[in-house]
Amino acid sequence: MNLMTKTLLKVEEIRPRIASRVLNTKAELLDGSLGTPIRELLEERGVLVFPKVHFTDDEQIAFTRTLGAYTSENADGKPSKITLNAKENPASAEYLKGSLYWHIDGTMNGVPILASLLSCRVLASWGGNTGFCSTYAAWEDLPDDRKAELESLRAIHAVWPTLMYYDPEPSLAMLTGMQSVGENELPLVWKHASGRKSLVIGCTTQRVLGVSDMKSAEIIHGLREWATSEQFSYSHEWNVGDLVMWDNTGTMHRAEAYDHSCGRMMHRTKLEGLEPFE
Ligand code: OGA
Ligand code: MN
Repeated sequence: MNLMTKTLLKVEEIRPRIASRVLNTKAELLDGSLGTPIRELLEERGVLVFPKVHFTDDEQIAFTRTLGAYTSENADGKPSKITLNAKENPASAEYLKGSLYWHIDGTMNGVPILASLLSCRVLASWGGNTGFCSTYAAWEDLPDDRKAELESLRAIHAVWPTLMYYDPEPSLAMLTGMQSVGENELPLVWKHASGRKSLVIGCTTQRVLGVSDMKSAEIIHGLREWATSEQFSYSHEWNVGDLVMWDNTGTMHRAEAYDHSCGRMMHRTKLEGLEPFE
């Protein structure tokens, strides 16, 4: 290959431990040759921001396909509409209320999605940033004795614990509806094939196994406070047309508070997971 014509990634660091900005043009991003370097950069940096790239739905799907396997969550093959407005999103607006609390997507699955790509179509009237934190960096910086305590622990994840964050006195029908989704036992520390390790926590964590209830709550909330502290995190303030992508295997994220009826609208595509939690 003639190296002179090879498209190079144009990248700026946003925070030392998480997030970079990719400044290539839309045409460069869509031509496919940056797929592999972007995937590598994503694994290294956790979050990639493509400021005001203004992808249409079809372009967002085409870009997603340059990075790996795309499967639509919808029958029409289109990106998912992420909004808390129940009129726009009757099927999942209720579940999305849990996305206001720190989480990893797909903790109910053995193989969680590799990454999500979220593009901003309508801004919130106030608030509505998306927060991210690196669960790789948070693990790496724990003291060795704490790592030894945590390394082999396992935890139960479910959807219903997320309900308690925003509706602590739910109707029985709402509770049992969410409980019917089931539960999933996962390691507290994910040992990736690459050799790196990351924390598996978030608002779907119901309890840590083999310790008292009090100790379990201390671990869940203590690790969340640690992982989401300033040095490991980044809060993205959106502009219309921004695309943000996160490595769902090494980060947590959440939507920050906003007016649920304001029409905030994100379009999301996902990359299929490759690696089971283990
Ligand atoms: C998601 C999610 C956060 C946001 O799409 O999985 O958690 O800011 N979104 O909308
Ligand atoms: Mn999410």
